[in-house]
Amino acid sequence: MRKKVTIIGAGNVGATAAHWIAARQLADVVLVDIVEGLPQGKALDLAESGPVEGFDLSIIGTNDYADTANSDVCIVTAGKPRKKDPVTGQYPSRDELVKINQGIVGDVIRAFAKHSPNAILVVVSNPLDAMCHVALHESGFPSHRVIGQAGALDTARYKTFIAMELGVSVKDVHGIVLGGHGDEMVPLPDHTSVSGIPVLELMPREKLDAIIARTRKGGGEIVGLLGYSGYYAPASATVSMVEAIILDQKRVIPSAVLLKGEYGYSDLYLGVPAVLGANGIERIIEMKLTDGEKAMLEVSATAVRNVVGVLGY
Ligand code: NAI
Ligand code: 2OP
Repeated sequence: MRKKVTIIGAGNVGATAAHWIAARQLADVVLVDIVEGLPQGKALDLAESGPVEGFDLSIIGTNDYADTANSDVCIVTAGKPRKKDPVTGQYPSRDELVKINQGIVGDVIRAFAKHSPNAILVVVSNPLDAMCHVALHESGFPSHRVIGQAGALDTARYKTFIAMELGVSVKDVHGIVLGGHGDEMVPLPDHTSVSGIPVLELMPREKLDAIIARTRKGGGEIVGLLGYSGYYAPASATVSMVEAIILDQKRVIPSAVLLKGEYGYSDLYLGVPAVLGANGIERIIEMKLTDGEKAMLEVSATAVRNVVGVLGY
C-alpha cells in the first residue's frame, strides 16, 4: 500500500513539498489549510500534472482533519512566515513569531494527532526548534517521531555557497551545519571537504568565514530579496527527510532532535546528525567536536533555550 503524507499548511513551503513528493512518486498527499479552497485548488492543480509528469498518486486538499486519518508522515508548515510589515517595512525575527506560531502549531498538531496517532511529524514552522517542543508537547508522541527540519536546509545552503565559490559541483561538496535554526547555527569547517579534500586547502579562511556568515543569514538573504521566506530549498530539504523515512533509507541528515544527554544537552531540540528511517529518528550520531565548535554549539543552544523559554511549558 502506498504511504500517506499529510502536509499542514498549503502555502509556499507546504505546496512546494507536495510538488517534490509527487515528482518523486513518494506517497499519496493530503494538503490541509485553514483557508477554504486553497488546499483543494493547489491539490487539484498538482494532481492534474500527473498525466504529464507520469506520477500516479492521490493528491487531495481539505480543511477537514478526518481526511488525514492514518497518515504515515505529517509535514507541519502551518504558521505565519517572516514577512515584511507593509507599514513599517520591518521584518519580524524568527523569535518574534514564537507565540503566534505556538498557538497555530499547537492547534494543528492536536487536530492531526488524534486521527494519526502513529505518524511521524516533520516540523518546519518557525521558530523551528521551539515549534518542535510544541509538536512534542501537544502530540504526546515519543520524541523519535517528532523531528524538525532545519539542518538539511542550512547544510544545503552552506554547500551551495562553497560550490559557487570554488566553481565545483555541489555533488562533491560535503559538510554539515549543527545547532538551532537561527543566526547562531554552527557550520563545521573542519568537517567540510570537496571530494575528501579539506575545504581549507581550497580556499582561504576568510573566504570560508564569509560563507559561514552568509549561511547563518541564508534565510534572511532570501527574505531580503523576495519580501517573504524561501520555499524551494526548504521544501526540498524537508522532502529529503520524508523520503528517508518513507523509504527507510537510514540516511544521516542533520535534524532537529530532542537531545537526552547527547552533546551534553537534555530536554532541548537542537540540530545534530541523525539516522532517519522508518521509525523516524533511529539514532543520534555524536560527533567529536573541538572546543571551539562546542563553544559555538553552546551559543546556539542558549539562543534556542531562550526561545523555548517563551513557550511556558
Ligand atoms: P505561507 O504563509 O506561504 O504558508 C503558511 C500556510 O499556513 C498558509 O497557507 C496559512 O493559511 C496556513 N495556516 C495558518 N494557520 C493555519 C492553521 N491554523 N491551520 C492550517 N493552516 C494554517 O508560509 P511558508 O513560506 O510556507 O512558511 C511556512 C512556515 O515555515 C513559516 O513558519 C516559516 O517561517 C517556516 N519556514 C521554515 C523553514 C525551516 O527551514 N524550518 C524554512 C522556510 C520556512
Ligand atoms: C529560512 O531559513 C525563514 O527559516 C526560513 O529560509
